[in-house]
Amino acid sequence: MKQSWLYCILLFLPLLLLGRYLYNENQRIRQFQEIKTHTLQEHNNPPQESKEVKDKEIDHVPLEVCDVFTGKWVLDNVTHPLYKEDECEFLSEWVSCTGNGRPDSKYQKWRWQPRDCSLPRFDAKLLLEKLRGKKLIFVGDSIHYNQWQSMVCMVQSIIPSGQKTLNHTAQMSIFNIKDYNTTIAFYWAPLLVESNADPPDKRDGKTDPIIIPQSISKHGESWKDADYLLFNTYIWWTRSSKIKVLQESKDSDEIGIYIGYEQVLRTWANWLDQNIDPNRTSIFFSSMSPTHIRSSDWDVNGGSSKCEKETEPILENTSRRLEVGTNRRLYEIAVNVTKLTMKVPIRFLDVTTMSEYRKDGHTSFYGSRSGKLLTPEQRSDPRTFADCYHWCLPGLPDTWNELLSLYIIYRA
Ligand SMILES: *[C@@H]1O[C@H](CO)[C@@H](O)[C@H](O)[C@H]1NC(C)=O
Ligand SMILES: *[C@@H]1O[C@H](CO)[C@@H](O)[C@H](O)[C@H]1NC(C)=O
Ligand SMILES: *[C@@H]1O[C@H](CO)[C@@H](O)[C@H](O)[C@H]1NC(C)=O
Ligand SMILES: *[C@@H]1O[C@H](CO)[C@@H](O)[C@H](O)[C@H]1NC(C)=O
Ligand SMILES: *[C@@H]1O[C@H](CO)[C@@H](O)[C@H](O)[C@H]1NC(C)=O
Ligand SMILES: *[C@@H]1O[C@H](CO)[C@@H](O)[C@H](O)[C@H]1NC(C)=O
Repeated sequence: MKQSWLYCILLFLPLLLLGRYLYNENQRIRQFQEIKTHTLQEHNNPPQESKEVKDKEIDHVPLEVCDVFTGKWVLDNVTHPLYKEDECEFLSEWVSCTGNGRPDSKYQKWRWQPRDCSLPRFDAKLLLEKLRGKKLIFVGDSIHYNQWQSMVCMVQSIIPSGQKTLNHTAQMSIFNIKDYNTTIAFYWAPLLVESNADPPDKRDGKTDPIIIPQSISKHGESWKDADYLLFNTYIWWTRSSKIKVLQESKDSDEIGIYIGYEQVLRTWANWLDQNIDPNRTSIFFSSMSPTHIRSSDWDVNGGSSKCEKETEPILENTSRRLEVGTNRRLYEIAVNVTKLTMKVPIRFLDVTTMSEYRKDGHTSFYGSRSGKLLTPEQRSDPRTFADCYHWCLPGLPDTWNELLSLYIIYRA
């Protein structure tokens, strides 16, 4: 109990900055779009394939019997990264760590190796064929925005310029691929239900979130026509042990986060059951994206760093359950509620443990905000300024998308 309070306190400070990254990011993207107009190099020529990798390729991944979320990280600079940072025009400076001065690049070169089967090499063309005429929406917080950017970068290289556009509305970022008639969009709803964090100018995390636990249909209007919906919600729940709620015609009240989280997920699951045709739309829920804010969690001589010194994943003894501060009770609630829908199956994408090993993957000092890099003074204060929530791209979210792609391609 004492420990979880410590985490709450440790989490709170950086969270003040969390929303601001995203908000500034959205404005900055627009500038970025205007500035970066030079012609793209197309890079269709596939990288050389090692024999070992080729042999491992199998036509059908037995997703029904293979738990693809249990496994280990393998250094593989032949197949990874899946794209180059400076070849994705849609990748924003926010998470372009190399461009922002990150000196090491090993974090881009890890491949996820499931214990009981092997993943086929990511194939953007195969994925886009499945998404032809379809709409995929990532719904959630800035971590999902991070993952959406990764997905855009993973597929965009095979699309000629002029065939792809990126547009932003108040709530959405929309990537369109003309010749495939495919939409890959992000919808901002960090707590899934309506909250005071929804408006673009209220995403800075400066005010405590206030949720309306029963209210989701306004958001839901934008989700109804999707063919694939991928949801997440976690980080905004970890600020404190309570969350404010707005009940009908009453002043705001506070409830425990576990009660609130379950209420919200039940509202969401009911909405899915009432509004989604499971014959058309597949639903996914991404499990918690972990943070790495206390080096003593993984290093016996760990001192008091956050993630800013990390250049390698946690590799030793992967059977040991790591403890990096992930709120496993929220995790369990999500596992439980995603099993509750009557009509619409929800696929739980269990990326938490695999990501807990990736202390090396965060943007740390190398995320930019509004085009600004951290000053040397800020770098001397990692406790306040190192971002150990979001992830560099290329990087870990690419693997999440490789796994998501499997479920889309093989319809499991
Ligand atoms: C991949 O790693 C190997 C061994 O570390 C190294 O010899 C090789 O140059 C690397 N290849 C690339 C493309 O980085
Ligand atoms: C494009 O896809 C949408 C569904 O996402 C569909 O309604 C529309 O008819 C398609 N347009 C063309 C030209 O195929
Ligand atoms: C989307 O953005 C592109 C430029 O990337 C622009 O040409 C197009 O008109 C925009 N579409 C909408 C619907 O705003
Ligand atoms: C889905 O399709 C099956 C077979 O075509 C049909 O029996 C079922 O009623 C459909 N379900 C819904 C919710 O429309
Ligand atoms: C992994 O951890 C377990 C339990 O802590 C221990 O028994 C085992 O020897 C360790 N294995 C390795 C390879 O370090
Ligand atoms: C999840 O469900 C299991 C089995 O019904 C139950 O034992 C457990 O307490 C639930 N966990 C939470 C956090 O609600």
